[in-house]
Amino acid sequence: IPKGIDLIEEINRMRKEKNAIILAHYYQTGDIQDIADFLGDSLQLARAAEKTDADMIVFCGVHFMAETAKILNPTKKVVLPDLLAGCSLADSCSGEGLRELKKKHPGAIVVSYINCDSGVKAESDIIVTSSNAEHIINSLPEEQKIIFAPDKNLGRYINQVTGRDMILWDGACIVHEAFSLERIAEQMLNHPKAKLIAHPEAQKPVLQVAHYIGSTANLLNYVVNDAAEEFIVATEEGILHEMRKRAPGKKLIPALTIDDKCNCSECHFMKLNTMEKLYLCMKYELPEILMDEEIRIKALRPINKMLELSK
Ligand code: 13P
Ligand code: SF4
Repeated sequence: IPKGIDLIEEINRMRKEKNAIILAHYYQTGDIQDIADFLGDSLQLARAAEKTDADMIVFCGVHFMAETAKILNPTKKVVLPDLLAGCSLADSCSGEGLRELKKKHPGAIVVSYINCDSGVKAESDIIVTSSNAEHIINSLPEEQKIIFAPDKNLGRYINQVTGRDMILWDGACIVHEAFSLERIAEQMLNHPKAKLIAHPEAQKPVLQVAHYIGSTANLLNYVVNDAAEEFIVATEEGILHEMRKRAPGKKLIPALTIDDKCNCSECHFMKLNTMEKLYLCMKYELPEILMDEEIRIKALRPINKMLELSK
């Protein structure tokens, strides 16, 4: 990168020249969120990727999100600033592993959280995100046997709110698993007026004491619209950036994790993307998401099913 270059100016220039759209998830750094054309949760980003007519989708998020964009809009060039931006949930489950589990449960359908790779999506019947999982599971016949992959925490939570008994894959988000109930309880004692809000990827003990549980977009809306003035936020701390912008008067307290020294409430995968890498990725149009067409078509089916069911 040439010295003294104005990254914002350059990114803006290339966005116009190349007819590119920058999509960003709420867990990206503040500067990336600010420069994005569209900021959203997983479902909103998938919809934005599907409907865009830009020539290039620059996806500031993690690999499974960029891959979902490519599955939905294959004629567009999809690039991701850092190809190593993975996800512990996606890493926990493979298409092959899921096929083995399906063999053990004949008659079960597979509902997978969008945080999985295309091989897992290709083996799934329906994809869900944290904002539509409850609604979609409720829309299935009560007697239907369901395998839910890969997030056991979201799966357990959905079992609880829907009264189902889904078979759960043993995956978890390293960020949301790090929240400490003991330390959050202390925060709640120190801030008696604060409401605890949590993402459903968090573990059961944290969810049990939460005042509100929702996807990143739903947590954001809750902070903006609820009458409370203080919130303890148990999700990746990148979301605080937009919360501060949209609810400037409110006090936002990041929930504490098991270890202060590890920055555990930061997703290091999400934070691999930086403004410098965004600039380089737009300049060289790399790294690009490329997919096997057979897998893409198989993975598209359960995503389309989700989009139909969550209208
Ligand atoms: P949502 O933004 O859909 O709530 O997903 C959270 C997440 O962990 C993305 O990786
Ligand atoms: Fe995956 Fe968790 Fe990071 Fe989201 S926050 S990308 S679920 S590791």
